[in-house]
Amino acid sequence: MSLIFKRHSVRRFTDQKVEDEKIENLLKAGMQAPSACNQQAWEFIVVSKPEDKLAISKMHEYAKPAEKASHLIVTLGNLNGANCHRLIDQDLGACNENILLQATHEGLGAVWLGFHPIEDRTLRLKEYLNIPDNCIPFSVICVGYPAYESEVKLRYDESKVHYDRY
Ligand SMILES: Cc1cc2nc3c(=O)[nH]c(=O)nc-3n(C[C@H](O)[C@H](O)[C@H](O)COP(=O)(O)O)c2cc1C
Repeated sequence: MSLIFKRHSVRRFTDQKVEDEKIENLLKAGMQAPSACNQQAWEFIVVSKPEDKLAISKMHEYAKPAEKASHLIVTLGNLNGANCHRLIDQDLGACNENILLQATHEGLGAVWLGFHPIEDRTLRLKEYLNIPDNCIPFSVICVGYPAYESEVKLRYDESKVHYDRY
C-alpha cells in the first residue's frame, strides 16, 4: 500500500528532536503540491522554541499536541503572491497533506491542527507570530517522533461513490 494508507495523526511525541534535514524535506514536500495557476502562494514558519510551542498549544482546545512536538510548521497563504487567490485554501490543503505524507515517509509522526477559517484562532496565531495581514494562517502541523504505535483503519466506503449521476 502507498504512504497514503499508512499516514495517521500522531498527537504524542518522544523528546527526540527532529533533524533539520527532515524538516527541510517536509517543507520541500509541501512546496511540491499542486496549486491553482501554479501560484505556489504558500509560506511557512518553523517553530521550535518550547515557550512558543506552549503558547500555540493553548490557542484552542484541540491544539494540545503542539506543546510536546519537536517542531511546528505553521502554513500560511500569502495573498500578495496569489493570482488565483480564491483557490488558495485548496492549494494549502494539498500542501498540508504533502507534508503529512512526507512525515510518514521520514518515520515521523504529525498532526494537522485546524486554524483557518476560524477567526479567533487565526487572530491569536497572527498576533503571536507577527504574521502580516496579507498572509492567512492556514494551519499548524505538529511534527515529532511518535510516542506510540497505532493501526490505520481503511475507510473505503462504496456507498459514497456514484457513477455517471448522483
Ligand atoms: C482541517 C483539519 C483540521 C484538524 N484539526 C485538528 C485539531 O485541531 N486537533 C487535532 O488533534 N487534530 C486535528 N485534525 C486531525 C483530524 O482529527 C484527523 O485527521 C482525523 O481524526 C482522522 O484521523 P487520521 O488523521 O489519523 O486519519 C484536523 C484535520 C484536518 C484535516
